[in-house]
Amino acid sequence: MTFEELELTCKNCTACSLHETRTNCVFGTGNPNARLMFVGEAPGEKEDLSGIPFVGAAGKLLDKYLCAVDIPREDVYIANILKCRPPKNRDPLPAEQDACIGYLREQVKLIKPEIIVCLGRIAAMRLIKPDYKITKEHGEFVKKGDFTMTAVFHPAALLRDPRRKEDMFADMKKIKEFLDGNG
Ligand code: URA
Repeated sequence: MTFEELELTCKNCTACSLHETRTNCVFGTGNPNARLMFVGEAPGEKEDLSGIPFVGAAGKLLDKYLCAVDIPREDVYIANILKCRPPKNRDPLPAEQDACIGYLREQVKLIKPEIIVCLGRIAAMRLIKPDYKITKEHGEFVKKGDFTMTAVFHPAALLRDPRRKEDMFADMKKIKEFLDGNG
């Protein structure tokens, strides 16, 4: 399946009830040949309205970190575990994740990034390990199959608790060093 075919299939998806309340399916955005892929949790209100991931307040903060470590947003690919917004931004249900995860798997297969960075604990628990502890393990690199994986604090969590911002900056610098070292 090509990227375009996958996106079209995803946009017509009715595999879980979230399709009933979505404005837009938020497939993902960025460079389909990216070396770095970010995976967040699920679209919020702004993302649901625009169809683009991380365009709200959390996305603006993510942009600042990308800029601070000199990674152009257009070089990376950004997607979420869920492609449709959960009502009132509640946590994604396991059944919704199960229904949706195949799209992310296909995206990863097509993009073949060198490093996948989970934004927050929901993505880390789904992609790295179910008992992932973001406060303890953020910024640690793990090799999983063909990919290096890590997780950083979710930018929305940083907006709620700015004390984590130093950790986030350090983790983002490590990710940039990984890219530079692997370049
Ligand atoms: N939070 C996420 O996890 N993903 C988005 O796309 C926006 C906010």
